[in-house]
Amino acid sequence: MAAGAMTPSATDIARAVSVLKGGGLVAFPTETVYGLGADALNPAAIRKVFAVKGRPADHPLIVHIGSSTKLEDWALKVPEAAERLARRFWPGPLTLVLKRHPRISLEITGGQETVAIRIPAHPAALMLLDAFGSGIAAPSANRFGKVSPTTAAHVRADLGMEVDFVLDGGPCAVGIESTIVDLSSDVPIILRPGGIAATDIERELGSPVKTGNEKSQVRAPGMLESHYAPRARIVIAGRGKAQEVAEAHLLQGQRVCAWLGAGPEPVPESVVLLPVEKSPEGRARTLYSWLREVDVQGFDVAVVTLPLDSGLDAAVRDRLCRAAGGR
Ligand code: TXA
Ligand code: MG
Repeated sequence: MAAGAMTPSATDIARAVSVLKGGGLVAFPTETVYGLGADALNPAAIRKVFAVKGRPADHPLIVHIGSSTKLEDWALKVPEAAERLARRFWPGPLTLVLKRHPRISLEITGGQETVAIRIPAHPAALMLLDAFGSGIAAPSANRFGKVSPTTAAHVRADLGMEVDFVLDGGPCAVGIESTIVDLSSDVPIILRPGGIAATDIERELGSPVKTGNEKSQVRAPGMLESHYAPRARIVIAGRGKAQEVAEAHLLQGQRVCAWLGAGPEPVPESVVLLPVEKSPEGRARTLYSWLREVDVQGFDVAVVTLPLDSGLDAAVRDRLCRAAGGR
């Protein structure tokens, strides 16, 4: 079991299942972030997810399935590449976009003919999916555009009374969302960098994979420029420029902290340095917690330098750029 992951009691699982069966919403842990789950085959419950999240209807949800579920029950066509990636990385932080099975409503897919599917690698999520015996549609359990939750407390702080039940599984071990691979056309495309590195996917497929959604017909709201954002401003500084950028904000009377992902460099004395984990995995796991902490501690600005674009740091960079974007 992943460090920090908690096994829920049989009572908690039973309660979560009965909420889902009754058309309610259950926030549940995955290895990436907490999801806001609803019965994937109940359109009214799906509409509730969009309402609580404040998410536009054309932004599709991921269908989570259990280890014993057949992919063919949820996707119309399962290409060999999908079978390969599923065999290698599921349960795990990988989402496959495939042709939609007719039983999946257009509400889930945002009106598209494709559906996003994954088997999460968290003991509590797998217990829940097994006990529920069907698919659970879930976006990340945060308000639209805000920072994703990696603990049950984050979910309660964001969505509080609007979730019928929060299944607590401890802090998420990966801490950043799944990698989304579009396999609905002939050319595989990574739509969102995430918990599985692009190089690992390429190695498994035996060929290079395109990144970005410019070649794809599908939309992914995680691709919006402004997303994953705290209230404070995230300002990205070039390497060696943190001091200069921080000073400019201090001069305006702002409270400034810094997260130096590119490595240590000098900053003004009044700037609070946020700790940076040594490994890409550590940086991914702690990213959303420190983005939240920036608001909790009342900073106006976080000056950020970006880690190198490799492994899980690609996803960390992506989220930081989006947290900084559009402002
Ligand atoms: O790790 C994760 O993926 C987490 C956990 C809870 O599983 N979920 C998550 O969900 O990040 P959400 O809704 O925050 O992001 C789902 C992403 C969105 O960017 C959405 O556009 C994309 O998946 N997506 C869903 N269905 C799609 C489809 N049919 N085609 C392309 N992208 C799709
Ligand atoms: Mg999200």
